[in-house]
Amino acid sequence: MSQRYRKNILVLNNQVLEGKNMLNFGTSPKNRLYTNLNSYFLFLGYILGGQSKQDRKDIELFEQALCERFATKHAICVYQCRMGIYLAVKALIKPGQEVILSPYTIADVINMVIFAGGRPVFADVDRQTCNISPTEVERLINPNTGAVLITHLHGIAAEAHQIKKICDRFHIPMIEDCAQSFGAYEQGKAVGTIGDVGVFSFEMHKNLTTWLGGAVISNRTDLVEKIRAELESFSYPPLPGIKRKVKSGLIQDIASFPVIFQLFTYPLLRFSYLKDIEVVNEKVRRKPQESQPAEHLPDVYKSLYTPFQARLGLSRLKYINHDIKKRIDNALLYYEGLKDIDELILPPLRTDGSHTYLWFPVQYSRRDDLLRFMFTHHRDIAAGHFTSTADSPRYQEFYRDCPNSKKVEQELFYLPTYPRYPRQEIEKNIQVIRQYFRQISSVSKPKDILTSTLTMSNT
Ligand SMILES: Cc1ncc(COP(=O)(O)O)c(C=O)c1O
Repeated sequence: MSQRYRKNILVLNNQVLEGKNMLNFGTSPKNRLYTNLNSYFLFLGYILGGQSKQDRKDIELFEQALCERFATKHAICVYQCRMGIYLAVKALIKPGQEVILSPYTIADVINMVIFAGGRPVFADVDRQTCNISPTEVERLINPNTGAVLITHLHGIAAEAHQIKKICDRFHIPMIEDCAQSFGAYEQGKAVGTIGDVGVFSFEMHKNLTTWLGGAVISNRTDLVEKIRAELESFSYPPLPGIKRKVKSGLIQDIASFPVIFQLFTYPLLRFSYLKDIEVVNEKVRRKPQESQPAEHLPDVYKSLYTPFQARLGLSRLKYINHDIKKRIDNALLYYEGLKDIDELILPPLRTDGSHTYLWFPVQYSRRDDLLRFMFTHHRDIAAGHFTSTADSPRYQEFYRDCPNSKKVEQELFYLPTYPRYPRQEIEKNIQVIRQYFRQISSVSKPKDILTSTLTMSNT
């Protein structure tokens, strides 16, 4: 963005808000984890001796609870969701077969497909839902297709039934990546149960968190037997991985604690964002996840889910429906507050429980200008942190032109929906976004100053 345009925005802000500053206080963080004291106590118990008593009972109880929730025959807890994807792909395809998947996902998912012997084939996404397009899937199926992997992103259910029908026509298995969509439904069926196998993530930013971890659910006994056989050679994880995760969670929990966030964390974040202080921005920006680039499956991934995590999962499971309902209520507020702004692409609204809105994902062509405006007005909002992997130099061999995915990468930002996010904060977010558009139109109509500056900033 050009300096001139940035200055214009700031001048506009001052004209309207100077002296009123009603938005200066009470900024809430864009993210809060679903951790509580129990999350830390269970971890402490584990490192202070629990490790030596690795009793699978709690894991079996958690797996049983997942089977009951999803009415599936099988559930297997895994070290991470990505490992569930690896195990599912490996069990379902022959080496060298193609796996059709969305490019708008984390690099680790693509890596897992490759490590499992598959060749990723990127199918572009639908612009509004950011999920894989059924038409694209159908177009790309060929005799060497081994599986279709769909992602239900942001808690927005993909068109799983339609894609499953296409897969069935060609006798191709469908895997559902539900890392971000625990509890979502499509056409009345829980995501994860529509295809041959569903995979969930219990990583710490997800709505059911056990620090790390995930689960595979399926009704296909043949597939589950293959996965269980593979897991037999796995061992309990080395401590440093989980320790690092808990440490990073603790830092996030402290930094996002309301008083600390308002007095220290947010002023620092805001200052760094507005002044482009990259050393700080770089540290706090969530990156498209990728563990160390590797040629083969890293050994640490051949780890098992631990009983202390299962205990944590069981304790969190009972809150999930309540949390989802709150997120849907929050999405509804955003939707109602923003639906008439033509420049924004909003996600589809469903209040019947089928979309669970891990965030309220919005797209706007001048996203970075809007985010700057929001920070100026004391809002804490994040740009989307995934990249479109279809044109990543890392996956050059599998390049495909996926223009929608690229656009989503450039234009997406997340409005917070987490259950503890106060309603007034949602209202303030809406108010500031509306104010941004009002100012743009009031400046551009009579004088066209902003438009001309914007044009300049794009050249
Ligand atoms: C869409 C998607 N798939 C898969 C994963 C991998 O989950 P995990 O970190 O548990 O391996 C993530 C993690 O954020 C994700 O967002």
